[in-house]
Amino acid sequence: MLQKPRGTRDFLPDEMEARRAVEWRLREVARCWGYREVCTPEFEDLELFTMRSGEGIIEEMYVFEDKGGRKLALRPEITAAVIRMYINEAKVAPKPLRWCYYADCFRYERPQKGRYRQFWQFGVELIGADTAIADAEVIMLASEMLDATGVKYELKVGHLSFVKNLLQDLEPASRRRIMAHLDKKDYEGLNTTLEGMNKSGLAETLTSLVACQDLQEAFEIAGAIPERERIERTIGYLDAANIHYSLNLGIARGLDYYTGIVFEGFADNLGAEDQILGGGVYRLAHLFGGDDVASCGFAIGFDRVMVSLGETTGRKDTVAAIICTIEGRNRALEVARAFRGAGIRTEMDLMERGFGAQLAHAAKSADFAVIIGQREAASGEVTLKNLQSGEQKMVGLEAAVTEVGAFGSRG
Ligand code: HAM
Repeated sequence: MLQKPRGTRDFLPDEMEARRAVEWRLREVARCWGYREVCTPEFEDLELFTMRSGEGIIEEMYVFEDKGGRKLALRPEITAAVIRMYINEAKVAPKPLRWCYYADCFRYERPQKGRYRQFWQFGVELIGADTAIADAEVIMLASEMLDATGVKYELKVGHLSFVKNLLQDLEPASRRRIMAHLDKKDYEGLNTTLEGMNKSGLAETLTSLVACQDLQEAFEIAGAIPERERIERTIGYLDAANIHYSLNLGIARGLDYYTGIVFEGFADNLGAEDQILGGGVYRLAHLFGGDDVASCGFAIGFDRVMVSLGETTGRKDTVAAIICTIEGRNRALEVARAFRGAGIRTEMDLMERGFGAQLAHAAKSADFAVIIGQREAASGEVTLKNLQSGEQKMVGLEAAVTEVGAFGSRG
């Protein structure tokens, strides 16, 4: 028997309904903040991803050559593609641009719970606003979106300048190693690496920076930071808006295009793969032949949010099952049309089962049975049976539709 590829998943209808329900909550928040959906190709020129991150990233991607010999990659994330699209299609559009996307990404990773080779991101990119309030807007939106899903999480906000300032005298290769330790929150490895470089003092300073919860104290630890005022204002807006976050000035972020504020969200109830959101301020446009426009964005790891929510999501549709005899079928088609016209999920027997078998099936799969027997066919009414309470009555078609419709909107 053929199986699906490693690291991918199939989704059955219950799961898809739960996923769509959460997706629509995210869409609704994005819409209210003025972020409009965009869509880019599933695959891009490989160069789009190697340009900033180097050839090393090829190991983590699905890379292939097409029949024309072009080197392509399945997108491992969507930010680079969105910025490419901005340069191709919207460079002259009035700024800022508020864009969002819900799309699948592909990474050649070792699969485990919460880590897949195909996964979905809901992300936003704010392009062309280089201000403290712009940075704050994106973080506020991140927080509101996570709230809307119902997930329990912690939001951590940092800024790359602090660590960069402390590491400015190191060689680029050493700096990268230290940033990698910080990104993985591997503080033991960080200490060992720095001891190896004879820089135990720096290890202590970085450790106290990571633990520091007070912005002013962090400025003292890290020394003179040119972006100080912007950082203070951004954090000030978050506080004024009552956003729940904690400072973590050790956040390094794996993708290497970030330049300023960075932030990450972590779900309370997930294990190793608990990061459900990542984002920050970045500059990519100039690399792809555009102007050096500042952007800020984030992506929510949709699958991890769904794992975190577990069974608690999604409200099942109210289902009406039309039960009829063979003679009553033409009338049943009419009745079904009226129910569907009112937006009610309506199913008819397709197996040519007997009356009793139809009712038994409906009891397993529906909330209401709408029965059309001889009596009903003659009177033009229907018998409406609530399959939960067992209550049953003969009513007009319109009344039946209204009652089932109202049941669906109980919340
Ligand atoms: P990222 O942190 O690489 O950032 O990914 C964002 C989120 O995608 C992660 O926090 C995680 O929840 C989810 N994720 C990543 N890899 C996997 C995986 N293998 N399986 C399941 N979920 C995964 C970005 O991708 C940036 N483009 C975010 C961004 C947008 N920055 C600025 N704008």
